[in-house]
Amino acid sequence: MKKLLVLGVVVLLLVPFAAWGKIGGGDITFHPEGAGNVLYSHDFHVGKLGLKCTECHSRIYVMSVAANAKRTMADMEKGLSCGACHNGKRAFDVKGNTCSKCHQS
Ligand code: HEC
Ligand code: HEC
Ligand code: HEC
Repeated sequence: MKKLLVLGVVVLLLVPFAAWGKIGGGDITFHPEGAGNVLYSHDFHVGKLGLKCTECHSRIYVMSVAANAKRTMADMEKGLSCGACHNGKRAFDVKGNTCSKCHQS
């Protein structure tokens, strides 16, 4: 019974996202000033790497693009936004020659 209840809650939580036909918030494109666009992929981070929503929401980002503060590379080097993981330890660094891994021309 308890298992069924848990399953029910999980299904309810997943339905809206499944209905959109994408994982989590889908593909999100940042348009920073003075650098190429950056594509953030939920599909890759959640689907391929298996990260949980709670690793980023709402510890690093609120679940709404409009509600999140714009961050600079200096912020990221201090561990904010992408820099929480892209620090050269857990994932490739935000400094060095890695720019083009995130910034497209
Ligand atoms: C590795 C970090 C990370 C993980 C894990 C993650 N997200 Fe996100 N999510 C983001 C980022 C980055 C944004 C964009 C934030 C911004 O623009 O300020 C975002 C935005 C969103 C948005 C808003 C989309 C929009 O267009 O307004 C939703 C909804 C969302 N995520 C749902 C989820 C769900 C559900 C999961 C788990 C299945 C998940 N996210 C897992 C990083 C993550
Ligand atoms: C919760 C941790 C986490 C956060 C936050 C995070 N990433 Fe990642 N990301 C990873 C890990 C882990 C990898 C895989 C290891 C690697 O490539 O170094 C990865 C890989 C990537 C890749 C390589 C994808 C590929 O196809 O190989 C890109 C691009 C990327 N992240 C962009 C971003 C951007 C942009 C942000 C911020 C908007 C972000 N990530 C935030 C953990 C994170
Ligand atoms: C892990 C992905 C990632 C890497 C690697 C990365 N950036 Fe960024 N960068 C972003 C994202 C995402 C934004 C937009 C952030 C926002 O709007 O909240 C951004 C914003 C910027 C901006 C505008 C804000 C500012 O700091 O002035 C510049 C310029 C920039 N990046 C340059 C670079 C350079 C140069 C490198 C390499 C040394 C680099 N970036 C590496 C993801 C990355």
